Amino acid sequence: MTVEIRVCPPERFTEFLKSAEVAFSDDVSDDLIQRVEAVSDKERYLCAMENDRFVATAGVFGVGLSVPGGGDMPAGGITWVTVVPTHRRRGIMREMMRRMIDDCHRRGEPIAMLWAAEGAIYQRFGFGLATFTLNLEAETTAVGFTRDWPREGAFRLLPAGQGLELVTPIYEAARATRAGFLSRTPAWWVGILPLVEKDAKGGEARRLVVYETADGPEAYAIYKTKSDWNARGPKSILTLDEAMASTPRGTREIWRYLFEVDLVRTLKTWRLPFDHPIFALAAEPRRLGTTMGDGLWVRILDVAAALEGRTYGIDGHGNGGLTLDLRDDYCAWNAGRWRLDASDGSARVARTDLEADLALDANDLACLFMGGYTATALAGAGRVVELRPGGLALADGLFPTASQPWCPQEF
Ligand SMILES: CC(C)(COP(=O)(O)OP(=O)(O)OC[C@H]1O[C@@H](n2cnc3c(N)ncnc32)[C@H](O)[C@@H]1OP(=O)(O)O)[C@@H](O)C(=O)NCCC(=O)NCCS
Repeated sequence: MTVEIRVCPPERFTEFLKSAEVAFSDDVSDDLIQRVEAVSDKERYLCAMENDRFVATAGVFGVGLSVPGGGDMPAGGITWVTVVPTHRRRGIMREMMRRMIDDCHRRGEPIAMLWAAEGAIYQRFGFGLATFTLNLEAETTAVGFTRDWPREGAFRLLPAGQGLELVTPIYEAARATRAGFLSRTPAWWVGILPLVEKDAKGGEARRLVVYETADGPEAYAIYKTKSDWNARGPKSILTLDEAMASTPRGTREIWRYLFEVDLVRTLKTWRLPFDHPIFALAAEPRRLGTTMGDGLWVRILDVAAALEGRTYGIDGHGNGGLTLDLRDDYCAWNAGRWRLDASDGSARVARTDLEADLALDANDLACLFMGGYTATALAGAGRVVELRPGGLALADGLFPTASQPWCPQEF
């Protein structure tokens, strides 16, 4: 029997998403399907079909990604990549990836990006780790604060279906300060804010709390709590989806709120940046129970457009010229020597015959692109190679950002 890879028939979109349950070993709920439909361009979803049955899924949504300097870069967000176990390791995912990458490139998206179920899958296609995640399993009553900050402002729990106008400016303010945030339309927010119906997946419904002062809303958190007890008393778990603030006071107070929810003893969350203020706020940082992991993976599709779309220098006003010798077998149009000339933070990027300062692969350039890695760190792993003395220092003066990139949203 032959397997045909094609655009998913739009009228079978629900069935198509449901078919991913087998590969993901998880339920695909009706509300998740509704949320995906609301933000999806169905023409960008591919399926593999055999005998009129779905055996593989994959899709791309177009979105803006914040890049160093605050620019909003069009990006292809790759998602729903699954192949049923009966059809694995015969190149179906490879073929779908080729089509998606070429389509993003044709559409003029300078980068593609994804969250990986397993990081080893995608590096062969030139994806590099663009953001790290700090994950917490905190003992809420043991963390404490380093200083005796006064309590200010007030908190408001909002009923499901409300609060969009309060959270949007806070998210946008946070987004303006970090690379890695996705743009969010009201349709995207529907999947992030609490649902009007009770969440289908275990525990209690998601809640939205907003922190306000006389200056207006400054922070919000979206979380769930799950009740639990033992012979010694309460030990409920709070699972935090997202906490955002537009001011340092908002950050401090929203985390104080989260650590003080009665009956809760453990707070779990994922996807913070590793320079998140919580580490500096905590009197007992070890009790945050941190682990570090991989976050957003990025693939550069158009070297000049991607590199010219961000700013350079830790203050965004860097100067300097750097020549890169780029190896890119998968997107061969990118391969070769590139000159980056930064002046007051803006760069011109063009092909060159100049002697290269650094040799690197597409994955390495993706790691550098968002500012999360230094070239020196990648050279320490034997990945980036310094061809001219001073090349690493030059790159380290240009690519890193003052704040770590942060992608708070999995997709
Ligand atoms: C991951 C998955 C989509 C791979 O699909 P597939 O059709 O079997 O992959 P392909 O046959 O096209 O493999 C292409 C290459 O990737 C490699 N690869 C595939 N899955 C891999 C994995 N989990 N880890 C490491 N390498 C992997 C293959 O070995 C092959 O390498 P090669 O070309 O060097 O031989 C499929 O196994 C799956 O659905 N897994 C469960 C769901 C999942 O994890 N999805 C990813 C969500 S981000």
